[in-house]
Amino acid sequence: MRRKLAAGNWKMNGTTAALSELEVLARSFPSPTVDVLICPPATLLHRAAEAVRDTGITVGGQDCHAATSGAHTGDISADMLVDAGAKAVILGHSERREDHDEQNEDVRAKARAAMDAGLKAIICVGESLEQREAANTLDIIGGQLSGSIPDQSTGENLIVAYEPIWAIGTGKVPTLNEIGEVHDFIRARLERRFGEGVGRSVRLLYGGSVKPSNATEIFGVSNVDGALVGGASLKATDFSAIVEALEKA
Ligand code: 13P
Repeated sequence: MRRKLAAGNWKMNGTTAALSELEVLARSFPSPTVDVLICPPATLLHRAAEAVRDTGITVGGQDCHAATSGAHTGDISADMLVDAGAKAVILGHSERREDHDEQNEDVRAKARAAMDAGLKAIICVGESLEQREAANTLDIIGGQLSGSIPDQSTGENLIVAYEPIWAIGTGKVPTLNEIGEVHDFIRARLERRFGEGVGRSVRLLYGGSVKPSNATEIFGVSNVDGALVGGASLKATDFSAIVEALEKA
């Protein structure tokens, strides 16, 4: 059985005041029946980890460098995330692929570093609107999966997030059939590459305009084990409603 996961990606949002949202969330879910993860900006990570200490909630990073240390001004290593209290890290988000020209090989190297440091790597894949309209979605996702996911992946250290780029922050969501098609495809690819045991144990998240109003139907789709939530993770009330929907799914 795969344990369900509600993950929040705060992106470049939040200063000290935002920690109060995390405290409210922690009080609302003293012992959640699903995994709950919040990935705040790096500047808040350590304090966020302290705020959720001894609760059912964990915190994670939004990126890490592929190297363990060195002359990489402004970058953060996987060990540094662990030191700050992270249990997971989002890698290959489409905003990083776009803003920082991250390629599949970069994401794979970062994922290796994250796994070596003991972090769960949440590897993001997803097609652009042009690619979907050209009926290239599964080819694109297949290429991202084989290029970005390292060989050492297991059900414990790998989580895959399917985030169609055109659904992020737009309020647009694929149909449930479209989500199911991609999640079934990802599952089949993982089983083919890693064998049925590992392939079936990796959790698959959907991300892109997940809100309290659409969470329940999305969580009913086959091979959707949870969500990676952007905007709606910034407010404890919204994110709590999504966590509750997942608990009931
Ligand atoms: P939104 O939920 O704001 O669409 O963002 C999704 C996302 O990019 C999560 O990583």
